[in-house]
Amino acid sequence: MSNPPRKLTPRAITAMKGVEKIAALTAYDFQTARLLDEAGIPLLLVGDSVGTTLLGYDNTLPVTLLDMIRHTAAVVRGVRRAVVVMDMPFMTYQASVEQALRNCGRAIQKTGCQAVKIEGGEFRAPAIEALVQNGIPVLGHIGLTPQSIQILGTRVQGRGEEAARQLIADARAVEAAGAFAVVIEAVPADLGARVSAAVRIPVIGIGAGPGCDGQILVVNDLLGLSGAFKPKFVKVYADLGAQVSAAAAAYKSDVETSAFPGPEHGYE
Ligand code: KIV
Repeated sequence: MSNPPRKLTPRAITAMKGVEKIAALTAYDFQTARLLDEAGIPLLLVGDSVGTTLLGYDNTLPVTLLDMIRHTAAVVRGVRRAVVVMDMPFMTYQASVEQALRNCGRAIQKTGCQAVKIEGGEFRAPAIEALVQNGIPVLGHIGLTPQSIQILGTRVQGRGEEAARQLIADARAVEAAGAFAVVIEAVPADLGARVSAAVRIPVIGIGAGPGCDGQILVVNDLLGLSGAFKPKFVKVYADLGAQVSAAAAAYKSDVETSAFPGPEHGYE
């Protein structure tokens, strides 16, 4: 009998910097999490992108703490090795450090995940520091932060030297506050590499070029389950959307022509 795989920790993710590139993905449900974990993905983020991928919202803002707790608990049940990170939804940590502590603590207690992700750079450092000091590992998120969609839109961030310097300052502040890694989203490729070189924690890019310490993609985008929506930075590795449509059409035809169920699908 083979031994169960050794559970990874946020600290192990930090130690991957400069040793191996980190291939992270989002996950939202038990079965997909199990498959991604078995494929060796070391970090699974239960992103608040669940709002757009599974729940049909236009953006992530309507996602609630309860939505995130339910999906994260399901992912945790499917995983034996990967670090599972719960994305804290809009307005569950922004109001105050106390609010962040209370809700992130609840996330850890209710789901069994190992870390939380919160958005924001320099200005978020006090909350990150308080969380880490109280035993809650934090994954930072800088650059394009989707919970600020009403301010930032979906524009590439960090264009121009002043904005680039601010992003580097953001990454350094998140590192100094104790985050074990940081996601950087939608910045020019050369800036992704500069930010990665500027800090000792892994910088995990999404639309931030190949110079980052790792990459993260939304699993539905990677699997071809996002319909016509395809940002430039996404590579589609499987066309499951087309397969699901074809399977449903074949099933419909079989039922209509009485080709299904056959004798082998029934009971004596
Ligand atoms: O919610 C999410 O999926 C994310 C990733 C895009 C990093 O925050």
